[in-house]
Amino acid sequence: MSKRTVVTMPGDGIGKVVLPASLQVLDKVGFEADYIHADIGWEFWRREGNPLPDRTIELLAEHKIGLFGAITSKPKTEAVKELDPSLRDKGHVYYSPIVAMRQKFQLDICVRPCRSFPHNPLNFVRKGPGNTIEEPVVDVVIFRQNTEGLYGGVEWTNPPQIVMDALKSHPKFMNFASTPPQELAVSTRIFTQKACNRIVGEAFKYARKFGYKSVTVCEKPNVIRETSGMMLQTAERIQKDYPDIALWNTNIDAQMMWLTKNPEDYGVIVAGNMFGDIVSDGFAGLVGGLGFACSANIGEEVAVFEPTHGSAPKYQHLKPAIVNPMAMILSACMMLDHVGETDKARRIREAIAEVIQEGKTYTYDMLKLRGGPEVLAQGAASTDQVTAAIMEKL
Ligand code: NAI
Ligand code: MG
Repeated sequence: MSKRTVVTMPGDGIGKVVLPASLQVLDKVGFEADYIHADIGWEFWRREGNPLPDRTIELLAEHKIGLFGAITSKPKTEAVKELDPSLRDKGHVYYSPIVAMRQKFQLDICVRPCRSFPHNPLNFVRKGPGNTIEEPVVDVVIFRQNTEGLYGGVEWTNPPQIVMDALKSHPKFMNFASTPPQELAVSTRIFTQKACNRIVGEAFKYARKFGYKSVTVCEKPNVIRETSGMMLQTAERIQKDYPDIALWNTNIDAQMMWLTKNPEDYGVIVAGNMFGDIVSDGFAGLVGGLGFACSANIGEEVAVFEPTHGSAPKYQHLKPAIVNPMAMILSACMMLDHVGETDKARRIREAIAEVIQEGKTYTYDMLKLRGGPEVLAQGAASTDQVTAAIMEKL
């Protein structure tokens, strides 16, 4: 296989710790690639007024594959205060660079696998009959629509008159019509048929390829009739081509309540942007939480792979680093799968499974310790030690 070029975007905080760890593991497994560093995150917001510089966009457009660590985001007003003084009052508005990247490259398919590793002390357990303890095997893959819905960014505080007029044309707006616009905030939830077709289509394709018996649409079509309704109707139509795969329909709220009752029953789950974000965090919590939650953002041309955790600023300066690199390494495995290096991905996952099974090298989160420099004295392994343990198994 020819040598790949991968754009690496460590970003902020612990992104700068876990991304290099994943590159060591990729090297060790024999993945041949040139890595090109690209700038993203808070530092570039402060210095340049743009957390996603054009040069980074150009690199991604050229090389198509990105590995991303994490970024720090702050609310709008706080963001402006941290701008370099020479950039203030120039109309710069902070916008999350990862959300911007997803929209810029139409990375509309977000895949978030949540699979339990045997013997992970963070695995969900529940009581069974006669006070027994059951540890269900969770193997769920969430397909989250990644560019539209509540994260589409079409929103206003104090909406302009033309928007107010449009809203007033809807009978249900009667309940809000007497509120002065300056006391009104509106965030739209726009779904398109094209995006619904793509996310549901990919979910069914994946279910068939990997032998999952069901695809669950996790929305709320009985209340959010138009958008959730479009997702469900799309699934009902596409399922006709997949008679071997059952279509289930759950409401997001009920799904969160029942998450712990029978997580082993679910396979592939498909949802819009917001509900996909929520349900994937819910399932990630059953299999180890943020230290294990990996993801892929896949568009028709470009794909970016990232852990779902953020920059965890309180741990960024700890030396040695203590955070769990597994979410980032598992995200790198998704990249390997994407470029057809499935055997290398499988070997890394097996190495991680062995390290977990052995139980000797756990980061603080796996030992259920409160994070801080003292965890190493309390028996936790550092980020480097866990990375080295995985590499040793390879
Ligand atoms: P976070 O995910 O950074 O951290 C939450 C907590 O989870 C941490 O305090 C830590 O205890 C734990 N944690 C996270 N990653 C871990 C790892 N690899 N190993 C062990 N423990 C880990 O979320 P938080 O604190 O809400 O946000 C911090 C910053 O990150 C904010 O500026 C936020 O906007 C940003 N963020 C960025 C994301 C991204 O880059 N995609 C996603 C989520 C938050
Ligand atoms: Mg999230």
